[in-house]
Amino acid sequence: MQITVIPPLTAHSICNATVVIPVFENSTGTLTSSILGDEAAKAALACLKKEDFSGTKNTLRYLIDLPACPFSHVLFLGLGEKQALTEYGWKKALDSLSTVLGQWKVENLVIAVPDGAFSSISGIELACMATMDTHYQFTRYKTQFQPGKALSRLYVTPATAISEKQANAIEAKFNALAKGLSLAKDLANGPSNYCTPQTFVHTAQSLAERYSRVTAHILDEPAMKAMGMGALLAVSKGSEQPAFLCTLHYQGTTATTQPYVFIGKGVTFDTGGITLKHAPGMQNMIYDMAGAAAVMGLIETIAHYNLNLNVTVIVPAVENMVDGNAYRPGDVLTTLSGQTVEVISTDAEGRLILCDAITYASRFNPKVMIDVATLTGAAITTLGHAASGLMSNSSTLAASLTQAGDAAHDKAWEMPLWDDYDAPLESTCADMRNAGNNAPGMITAACFLKQFVSDTPWAHLDVAGSSFTYGKGNSATGRPLPLLFQYLLGEEE
Ligand code: BES
Ligand code: MN
Ligand code: ZN
Repeated sequence: MQITVIPPLTAHSICNATVVIPVFENSTGTLTSSILGDEAAKAALACLKKEDFSGTKNTLRYLIDLPACPFSHVLFLGLGEKQALTEYGWKKALDSLSTVLGQWKVENLVIAVPDGAFSSISGIELACMATMDTHYQFTRYKTQFQPGKALSRLYVTPATAISEKQANAIEAKFNALAKGLSLAKDLANGPSNYCTPQTFVHTAQSLAERYSRVTAHILDEPAMKAMGMGALLAVSKGSEQPAFLCTLHYQGTTATTQPYVFIGKGVTFDTGGITLKHAPGMQNMIYDMAGAAAVMGLIETIAHYNLNLNVTVIVPAVENMVDGNAYRPGDVLTTLSGQTVEVISTDAEGRLILCDAITYASRFNPKVMIDVATLTGAAITTLGHAASGLMSNSSTLAASLTQAGDAAHDKAWEMPLWDDYDAPLESTCADMRNAGNNAPGMITAACFLKQFVSDTPWAHLDVAGSSFTYGKGNSATGRPLPLLFQYLLGEEE
């Protein structure tokens, strides 16, 4: 999908397009005539009047084949009172489009953006985000699916003009984001019998082949064993699928410049292991590699964008299964850092693969290190699906990530990482245990990871809630890719 920002008066020159015109209560005329032209607008307004459509909030009307109208389909989106249109209101209105637009198999879509209590840029960006979400389909395993015309172009046209420079920046950003998001969503939605640790190896190799600034480096089990990644390998022991550690380097500036390092949890299925999960909802554990999917998508996005920074992405990819050879509660593992861990729960596996990946990451001399993981159910209990949980050893980094999340409409919320929360992880037989009792789960997990970070500025994003939603199935969101990309764009300046 190609995204273009255009002035309203030029919209009528786009052929074979559907247009979305947002209207405020009792002021249906203004945008309508600037987009449709006077003659078609007159006909349209007459129809709307007949149908008693006045632009009330949460109402929709569409008109087809209007006389003298440059568009095949015109969709009116009621927004209610002008003064009351918040950013959230605009987002909700855009979400409501999906039911109608999904049925029409729209090829070219024009969305007019209203003025509201938000900047033109935010309004445009929300329209881009919503369209990327509503037009995403995961049909690889639907044998009866007839691929119709997919949305090929989105044109966004703001009521209040923005500069050409701003328009170009939005286009470059969202065209890059669209690429990475579709990779991240496809990976995350992939069922675990198709999306295995090996899939990440193939994805890494394909990125390196397609982009000259990207190189891939893969460690297999013997290599990881030789290095001493005892925690990562323990998690993988019960699986028939071999584990891999995939590293991707994107070189956007001089080779000696310190890289931004991102680590993504890649558990392709999480049964819980011997500490077996209960059955209801276990199918959602296909998404337990959403962190890995998001950071791989990040590489695609920045490579497409040609970002001027060095970025390294590390994906520990394993499957957590139940087997005679599986690791057990009570086992003591030696991590790559040399520290030992008493396993309390084999279901707290994410932190075990991440701790070795974090130690490994330090060899790249990171400027900052950010891990992204569907790490705890507690993240969902705490923040729901609205925000990623953010924990960091650096208040500057935490502030930058929070701001980036707000700007990208991909929110993160900071949680404390005080030493007060370390106690539940004390072990009597090893240096630490991998899970605490009666402890705040999301924070305790971050406290565990903290033991493996030296003085590098580091942040942990728990994306168990934000990276997918329950209910509809195939519901990966690609988050927190928009946040991470926005953060890097801010660092580039
Ligand atoms: N992958 C899960 C976390 C999760 C749960 C993600 C629900 C998405 C939806 C993780 O590996 C896990 O099992 N965490 C445990 C940790 C506990 C054993 C300390 C949890 O949250 O229950
Ligand atoms: Mn688990
Ligand atoms: Zn897990």
